[in-house]
Amino acid sequence: MAQFRDQAFVRELVQWIRFSKKDLLARRDGLNAASMELPYAPAAVGKFILNHFATPEGEAKKCEKLIRGSSGLILFIAGSNDKPSWVNVGRSFERVALKATALNIKHAHLNMPCEVLEIRKKLQQHLGLENEHPLLLIRIGYAKPRPKSLRRPVDDVLLQS
Ligand SMILES: Cc1cc2nc3c(=O)[nH]c(=O)nc-3n(C[C@H](O)[C@H](O)[C@H](O)COP(=O)(O)O)c2cc1C
Repeated sequence: MAQFRDQAFVRELVQWIRFSKKDLLARRDGLNAASMELPYAPAAVGKFILNHFATPEGEAKKCEKLIRGSSGLILFIAGSNDKPSWVNVGRSFERVALKATALNIKHAHLNMPCEVLEIRKKLQQHLGLENEHPLLLIRIGYAKPRPKSLRRPVDDVLLQS
């Protein structure tokens, strides 16, 4: 709810959603609308709908339903909150994601409580963590495959000298 009350957050999120197939194929990044159970629409229509109809309460309800429908949650906790720890949390996440996928277990990010500092602190206190930082939350379970969010080939994003 905190994030959906934050205009800057919503603006950034909307910029990353590929609302139409045309955008998805042209950009090959961000979030495919179909992965998020949104119908494809011209980008301007999709942006308008999200900007005007996604309420904090509605989004919170959607998240609650997703949590209740998941078999489990996995929280990645780092010993410190610095750049090497962020990279290591990412590496741990990738290992879990690959292993889960190999076992036909689906995963999705549910990272909102870690992204808002005040709420991360509440989570930290709730779990009795003192000097450890909950940095990434995902949900897992068995589910039907969703359409993929496309990514660019590695050669398009790496420069070699
Ligand atoms: C459909 C979809 C939904 C996502 N939702 C979230 C989210 O709620 N929170 C978050 O931190 N990241 C979210 N992500 C982004 C993931 O963090 C990111 O895709 C993941 O780390 C893999 O990195 P990559 O997409 O660059 O390969 C989402 C990605 C996709 C494709």
